[in-house]
Amino acid sequence: MTQSPPAFPTARLRRTRQSAAFRGLVRENTLTVDDLIWPVFVRDGEGIEEPVSSMPGVVRRSVDKIVDAAREAADLGIPVICLFPYTDPSLKTEDCAEAWNPDNLSNRATRAIKRAVPEIAVMTDVALDPYNINGHDGFVINGEIVNDKTVEALVKQALSQAEAGADIIGPSDMMDGRIGAIRTALESGGHQNVTIMSYAAKYASAFYGPFRDAVGASGALKGDKTTYQMDPANSDEALRCVARDLAEGADMVMVKPGMPYLDICRRVKDTFAVPTFAYQVSGEYAMIQAAAQNGWIDGDKAMVESLMAFKRAGCDGILTYFAPAVARKLNGQ
Ligand code: PBG
Repeated sequence: MTQSPPAFPTARLRRTRQSAAFRGLVRENTLTVDDLIWPVFVRDGEGIEEPVSSMPGVVRRSVDKIVDAAREAADLGIPVICLFPYTDPSLKTEDCAEAWNPDNLSNRATRAIKRAVPEIAVMTDVALDPYNINGHDGFVINGEIVNDKTVEALVKQALSQAEAGADIIGPSDMMDGRIGAIRTALESGGHQNVTIMSYAAKYASAFYGPFRDAVGASGALKGDKTTYQMDPANSDEALRCVARDLAEGADMVMVKPGMPYLDICRRVKDTFAVPTFAYQVSGEYAMIQAAAQNGWIDGDKAMVESLMAFKRAGCDGILTYFAPAVARKLNGQ
């Protein structure tokens, strides 16, 4: 005897969507304030909060205002603030010496934050682009971005950041061998507890445009970064980058940009099961803000949805310019 099909669907997946109570019960991922790293832009001066026109809602702050921002972030429960300096063009040189000046903007901001708000972790950026006359992350010799000589400079930069009190060193330069060289120097320099979050899979992306405005590097940049940042077409190569950086001593790894690269986040997490982060970069932030300002999307909902997507893709946390806004929302403020 053949059985006739049931007159009703056997699996009614809508049952567990019927109310907020059920949706909460079966929710697979959560976004919390603990997941947030807040990137901020530091500039010279005092009492300054200067808007970045291509990133609505984002400002460049003088060191005193950065300390206020760190206080605000800590009060919201944000665990990490990440510093990016807007370097005066007069300090940009071919030898990038400002990068390891103990009193450069980034180091002054780190010391000021650690003094006033010791409970927040400070992350700093290791790369030469804010200090380089031609806007590249490495030294340019005869038109080539040279690797090993750059790594020597990155080591000096990382050590000066550790000495200023940085808790997390973030090499964003994509040179080969820099994680091992920095780890070795940190160990022998007495900075065993300073952690490294490697920008392991960083792509040559159009989504960095507003950031380069924010740090004043867009005018300076000659050519593009395709000989050191990754080709957006590649995925296996990202796993090789992550494996290499972990072997060299990275504590945490990052995928960057974020939203167009969620597949990479998932592969990294599934393959290595290590602390994995994504950077929702300036262009991603600008797109959401621009559409929201035009009334084309609900900005608050898009913000939360975009950040939840990183958690679903396996990330442990997200660097996002939305950090204080989403923290206020998650805290019910
Ligand atoms: C440079 C650096 C970049 C970003 C972080 N560090 C830009 C680049 O590689 O040109 C981009 C961040 C963003 O777009 O929000 N070392």
